[in-house]
Amino acid sequence: MRNKVTVVGAGNVGSSAAQRIVEKHLADVVLIDVVEGIPEGKALDLWESAPVEGYDCRLRGTRDYADTAGSEVVVITAGLARKPGMSRDDLLMKNYEIVRSVTEQVVRHSPDAILVVVSNPLDAMAQTAFRVSGFPKQRVVGMAGVLDSARFRTFIAMELGVSVKDVHAFVLGGHGDTMVPLSRYSTVAGVPITELLPADRVKALEERTANGGAEIVGLLKTGSAFYAPAASTFEMVDAILGDRKRVLPCATYLEGEFGVDGYFVGVPVVLGRGGLERVFEITLTDEERAAFDKSVNAVKELVAALPA
Ligand SMILES: NC(=O)c1ccc[n+]([C@@H]2O[C@H](COP(=O)([O-])OP(=O)(O)OC[C@H]3O[C@@H](n4cnc5c(N)ncnc54)[C@H](O)[C@@H]3O)[C@@H](O)[C@H]2O)c1
Repeated sequence: MRNKVTVVGAGNVGSSAAQRIVEKHLADVVLIDVVEGIPEGKALDLWESAPVEGYDCRLRGTRDYADTAGSEVVVITAGLARKPGMSRDDLLMKNYEIVRSVTEQVVRHSPDAILVVVSNPLDAMAQTAFRVSGFPKQRVVGMAGVLDSARFRTFIAMELGVSVKDVHAFVLGGHGDTMVPLSRYSTVAGVPITELLPADRVKALEERTANGGAEIVGLLKTGSAFYAPAASTFEMVDAILGDRKRVLPCATYLEGEFGVDGYFVGVPVVLGRGGLERVFEITLTDEERAAFDKSVNAVKELVAALPA
């Protein structure tokens, strides 16, 4: 039997993620939203592309959580997206209410699912889904680091005129302006970029990465990024369903690792069929540690603002 993935929120990120999942033959997809006609219409439209694209995964658009029952993975993209001038944190309370109610309904019908949270502010929404679901930490992960490091890889490849395929990058910390791109561990064909670029260029690429979301919001004006977020979400769902043991930066509930206890923060983890299988702990320099701690504090402030 084919895997079943529910995508909650049939907006830009959700429908694009659904498209990638079916086009890459990964799973059948249930697309669910609160707006009448949107999930139904988008799912049908996508399914009508199947004969042309040559996939036989099935899609269903719905507003009824009964249709999501028995999903192996549930991707939560429901919520409001950032508008120009709005920080991810402005979204906190509005999206808290949405993610809380979505999680309650999802877990009722798919008690064994792995939750992949995408809604912003990411780390606080992952914490919300974790608390409300009562799931073990292994089955709640947040998507941010894959996107942030994809952006960093893109900028490095642009700067050096090389293929993105040969560029690896790590970004740690919360998914906000305080995220920590780790240049020392970011490499082109194994060579750290700190040896390939002058320090001021490395810094400029790090800053562009940390502001990567805002850069797209500033250009689009009416919404936020979705192609790269959807691709990043796909990569995590694929790692889980394919039991690939991919080492990917994900927002993860830490219990002492990296000196953090009781919060979701982006760190490298091994992602497989069990969800979060292992945290990949790395040693930080004093400077990196200071930046990481600042980012963790930003996450803590948001979580402190959430209803208990
Ligand atoms: N983690 C990341 O790296 C990352 C990247 C991009 C976007 N995001 C976040 O993902 C979310 C979605 O972004 P988008 O661009 O797709 O926004 P969007 O506005 O296009 O789509 C959001 C969808 O959620 C739906 N929705 C609202 N309340 C709902 C509910 N209670 N149940 C089900 N659906 C509901 C809306 O009707 C809408 O269709 C936003 O919070 C955005 O900030 C996160």
